[in-house]
Amino acid sequence: MDEKTTDNTNQGLPAYVTHAELAEALHHQHKRQKRRRAGIFLKIVGLIALVHWVGHKYGSTHHTGQYSRSFDDPEDKWPIPPETQVEKCATWSESTPEAFSVIDAHYPHSASASFNLPVESAALFLATRSIIHRHGKHHGLFAAGAIDYVQGTDSGDNVNVAVTAQYWHTAHLEAAKVCLLSKTDGNKQNGVGILTKWEDEDWEDDHDHHHGSTELRFQITVTFPAAKDGKVLDIEKFETDLEVYSQTFAGSMKEVHFKALELKSALAGITAKELTADVATLRTSLAAIDIETLKSNNATLTTALGRIEGTYNVTDSLSLTTSNAPINVDINLVTDGSNERPGNIKLVTTNAAIEANISLASSSESSPGSFDVSAHTAHGQVELPILALPIDAELNLEATTALAKVFVGLPETYEGSIEATTSLANVDIKIDSGAKDPKGEDRKRVGGVERVRRGVVNAKVGWSREGTGRGKVQARSSLGGILVEV
Ligand SMILES: *[C@@H]1O[C@H](CO)[C@@H](O)[C@H](O)[C@H]1NC(C)=O
Ligand SMILES: *[C@@H]1O[C@H](CO)[C@@H](O)[C@H](O)[C@H]1NC(C)=O
Ligand SMILES: *[C@@H]1O[C@H](CO)[C@@H](O)[C@H](O)[C@H]1NC(C)=O
Repeated sequence: MDEKTTDNTNQGLPAYVTHAELAEALHHQHKRQKRRRAGIFLKIVGLIALVHWVGHKYGSTHHTGQYSRSFDDPEDKWPIPPETQVEKCATWSESTPEAFSVIDAHYPHSASASFNLPVESAALFLATRSIIHRHGKHHGLFAAGAIDYVQGTDSGDNVNVAVTAQYWHTAHLEAAKVCLLSKTDGNKQNGVGILTKWEDEDWEDDHDHHHGSTELRFQITVTFPAAKDGKVLDIEKFETDLEVYSQTFAGSMKEVHFKALELKSALAGITAKELTADVATLRTSLAAIDIETLKSNNATLTTALGRIEGTYNVTDSLSLTTSNAPINVDINLVTDGSNERPGNIKLVTTNAAIEANISLASSSESSPGSFDVSAHTAHGQVELPILALPIDAELNLEATTALAKVFVGLPETYEGSIEATTSLANVDIKIDSGAKDPKGEDRKRVGGVERVRRGVVNAKVGWSREGTGRGKVQARSSLGGILVEV
């Protein structure tokens, strides 16, 4: 049995969004994040502007995104994702209305199509593009969808992409094509595209339906085959470039190893249990990214207004960027100990807190390596307990906010300088003078607080004079208190 997750309600935003639903979801998300009174008016104004922008971009006006050229239909252009070409389009196979009306009265019709993509492809991809012209009272999104990724139990040479379209009227189905695509710039890059083209003027009003949701919704299941040797399935590259489509990876996907994984979707979130990708680039424009565990060498996650949560086990670099939403993560960075390429962690948000439990380690017995860690926000607090750092490793850390507290916790293995700066609150650097030599050589801890000026405290710690020159920790706020413990 395929493990399949169809619950899309827990991702910050639902998979099928209307203006009203979107506004409400944003409002709730906003309320959760922000208990602060000040500035709430401005933020609501911002939110309204955002909802208008979203409606403008994905709902009611012209084409979304770029598209390259027409095919097939000489009268008009179908939107084709950039740098791709159409190999062939599927014929929809329609089910009878009766079969589906029981399930959802708003989408009495259903049609399906499916493609197999060779698993050995240099790249596999999914893309969607729309040209939507809407007028008058029609402001909702025309189409939205949900993608489930699962690994099947049968081994095979293909990744199956099964698309089901649900709709209220046959005319809506005619507005959509599912096509096999290839990239124009290289061989063996195979994908599936959903192309949508809709013009309200061609549509008589008495056919109109008023349930206030999208006219078309797509449910897509991407099934990866089981690995032949019963181990892990290697995928060279998997990419998505989607409009309003949520993406959910089932637990079974932990047996799939992506060498490169690039996911992009607007408005709807990305959810996964366990994902393994050597290089991972995940991007959503408004929704949350919620991955229980991501194992990666180099991971870049970017969202706006979406919270970022989960456990990140990385070997080279991790970059998490959002705005107006918290970052709440556990990070395990295990480098190969090389000093030329420090292990790198970068956490950025704006009006929310950053809380990260960070463990730093080296897989090499002989070289402890070096680490760069930075966390930046403006209106939220920063809490960075560094739970582990190899002996003799170099740590360079920056934690900054403006209006809230900063806490940095350092293990006894930390050696180097500490600078804590704020202007109108307490600054404290606590050094545990009773700490035991982590090397077990009974060395005495050296250094201490060196300089206290108005709003700035400097300190040095280490297990030798040389050690106190190793790393550098800087914690900064303008109006919040600072505590650094080592
Ligand atoms: C990690 O990814 C970023 C962004 O894609 C890239 O600039 C960087 O060179 C990568 N680093 C490694 C070690 O692959
Ligand atoms: C992530 O790393 C931590 C610490 O090394 C480890 O305990 C945990 O099992 C790892 N998680 C996965 C899914 O590999
Ligand atoms: C960090 O660790 C503490 C103590 O174990 C735990 O209470 C907290 O939930 C963790 N934070 C995150 C973001 O996982």
